[in-house]
Amino acid sequence: MQFNIKNVVRPHILNLAPYSSARDEYSGKEGIFLDANENPIGSVTPENWNRYPDPYQWAIKEKIAPLKGCRPAQIFLGNGSDEPIDLIIRLTCEPKQDNIIILPPTYGMYEVSAAVNNVAIQKIDLTPDFQLDVDAILEAINSRTKLIFICSPNNPTGNLIQRESILQIIENFQQGIVVIDEAYNDFSDEPSFIPSLDEYPNVMVLQTFSKAWGLAALRLGMAFGQESLIQLLNKIKYPYNINGLTQRLLLENIDKTSFVIDSVATLNQNRQVLIEALSQLPIVEHIYPSDANFLLVRFTAAKAIFDYLIENKTIVRDRSKVVLCDNCLRISVGTTEENEVLIKYLQQYQ
Ligand SMILES: Cc1ncc(COP(=O)(O)O)c(C=O)c1O
Repeated sequence: MQFNIKNVVRPHILNLAPYSSARDEYSGKEGIFLDANENPIGSVTPENWNRYPDPYQWAIKEKIAPLKGCRPAQIFLGNGSDEPIDLIIRLTCEPKQDNIIILPPTYGMYEVSAAVNNVAIQKIDLTPDFQLDVDAILEAINSRTKLIFICSPNNPTGNLIQRESILQIIENFQQGIVVIDEAYNDFSDEPSFIPSLDEYPNVMVLQTFSKAWGLAALRLGMAFGQESLIQLLNKIKYPYNINGLTQRLLLENIDKTSFVIDSVATLNQNRQVLIEALSQLPIVEHIYPSDANFLLVRFTAAKAIFDYLIENKTIVRDRSKVVLCDNCLRISVGTTEENEVLIKYLQQYQ
């Protein structure tokens, strides 16, 4: 079987006539704009934000494409990468009929978005070393499986998923889309799947400006895929899903890639220092290998240590209830000072 968009996308969406916004119908920059019911006088804010922004954010996509090794039309921008997670499910899955496969322990929004859309979830746990159980995943695929979400580096475990096993899933799942979430890819040396999208029409890749780029509050995530899939996502998104302030701030600063490179270098170095300090502590049982800006750490008594840290206004993430993560806390890599405070409290823990 070869990948065919018609087998994957919900038929009513293929046939849907999307909303056509004022900026869809006239995208020129010059003229007297009396077409979008905006306020021509200006804005309540010191700067003017009275005009609707570009619905397809072409100026940003032109800048992102060379950074990522793809064409602008292969890029979808969303309100965080959480938006394309939801939209990809809505694009492909009939509620109560279709299903998606997720691979716990993994990022929680795949399950939540599927649940919101009333789409069934099949869970195939990662192996004890947090790799794909390829045979079990392939066996779980049935005629109504539309998506498989693979997160690499994986949240909350931090490790990379072996490329070879991702390729096995891609090759053997031509009836649907493999969504590879690379939110933490900037922190690893592993090449992205984005430059290979022409080779793998059944792959979509997610990345985000929330991590290495330090823009979590702006809410800007990316989905990459073949042009026709991106066009379909554009068809079902809200017309102006990326606000003008976010677009402008990104455009003005996207050339400052040295910030990203330096942040990644610093955080990866801090991660190493943190690993060394944590490994000295008797309350630490295991530190899992990480290619991301956080560490999954197994403690002797995770919940008690989590509560103790909170009492000391040091907040980490309790993942101890998550499958395969017994007694684990997830710790984001902080600044040198923040990490020192964390280690000091952990040393003092009785
Ligand atoms: C694996 C993964 N994917 C996606 C996201 C969502 O990121 P955002 O919506 O900020 O782009 C996160 C956030 O923590 C994440 O860990």
